[in-house]
Amino acid sequence: MKKKLLSMLLAVAMVATMLTGCGDTTTTTDDTTADDTTADDVTADDDATADDDGGAASGEVQVGIVLPTKDEPRWLQDQAQFEAILGDAGFTNQVLFSQGSSATEKTNVETLISQGIDVLIICAQDGSAAAAAVEAAKDAGVTVIAYDRLITGTEAVDYYVTFDSFSVGVAQGQYLIDNAPEGTGIPLYLYAGAATDNNAFIFFEGAWSVLQPKIADGTFVVANSSEAEGLKDKAELSREEIGKIIGQVTTDWDFNVAKSKAEAHLTAVGADMKGDVLVLGPNDGTARSIADVFATDKDVTSFKVTGQDAEKASVQYVIDGKQSMTVFKDTRTLAADSVAMAVSILNGDTPATDTTYNNEAKDVPAKQTNIVVVTQDNVKEALIDSEYYDASEFTGLE
Ligand code: GAL
Repeated sequence: MKKKLLSMLLAVAMVATMLTGCGDTTTTTDDTTADDTTADDVTADDDATADDDGGAASGEVQVGIVLPTKDEPRWLQDQAQFEAILGDAGFTNQVLFSQGSSATEKTNVETLISQGIDVLIICAQDGSAAAAAVEAAKDAGVTVIAYDRLITGTEAVDYYVTFDSFSVGVAQGQYLIDNAPEGTGIPLYLYAGAATDNNAFIFFEGAWSVLQPKIADGTFVVANSSEAEGLKDKAELSREEIGKIIGQVTTDWDFNVAKSKAEAHLTAVGADMKGDVLVLGPNDGTARSIADVFATDKDVTSFKVTGQDAEKASVQYVIDGKQSMTVFKDTRTLAADSVAMAVSILNGDTPATDTTYNNEAKDVPAKQTNIVVVTQDNVKEALIDSEYYDASEFTGLE
């Protein structure tokens, strides 16, 4: 057994090292199982599992991964990393997508449980609705790792692997401050993620922490949220207050919603809310559609718009000057951290964590990863030199 565990750890360490130089791998189908893996000596097919059910029998799936949707490139990036790391480390694994449905998510979890998983890595579609799914997993003796998005209101979350989401919001807000036009009364359009995603609250909280003083002193004027304008003197907002603002400016993480909201907002405002404007774009998909709308309004003379995820299409937008910045969240690190956790769990060890996140039921031990702000100035260094993407995937880089 010792030998087995050692080789498993070595394999993961090697993969982690290799990943530092790994590009954006091609994605495979959503139901890919790595059960054809040849590294028999690293499968937790018997005593290597921490669970008392004897672990996954040969041919069963050891690590199940559930991601929110294939419709956002962000999650395909994560899928590619998982399949590369887990496959290379010799773990049988399966990635399933919830496609925006909590019901599908629950079915996916049940499917994975029936396939004998020991560890579930799940990025929730809806952070509170996912509680039922992970409770089913826990009841089946599975260790649950919340991936990127915290699952709330349940004790059935063992660990949380995340980027520093507050910093994402701070970076977006600070970018707008640092790149704002001169003067006061500058129109600021706020957009947020889905109200069902705990991260949307954290991102907004981070952005508000830096933007609020500028709104309070009149440097910026919120153009599209009466709730935000009404709360402008409050440095710290309660979750309920953030919820009210998000209720007005949510994109649902959906670029069609983002597009129609942006159109409606520009139609509703007067000329004083146009000219040189600032836009808090919550992520890349929505930032691109908001940018496209603002770019076609003849009364908007210039705009700065933020994003997040370093999606390929947005990296091209940044290079072309159509999106001002993105926040690079290196999915290689997040996936590798989750796999390292899975390895510890399968070995019966306690995974390393560096912080906790309260999910309204408990303090969940968490591993947090830093983010990198990407603009035209450092796009090559951050994304090409780090081999996250290949230069050939973009035009106009030189
Ligand atoms: C968040 C995630 C972001 C973004 C967004 C939309 O939870 O942290 O990276 O992609 O969801 O899917």
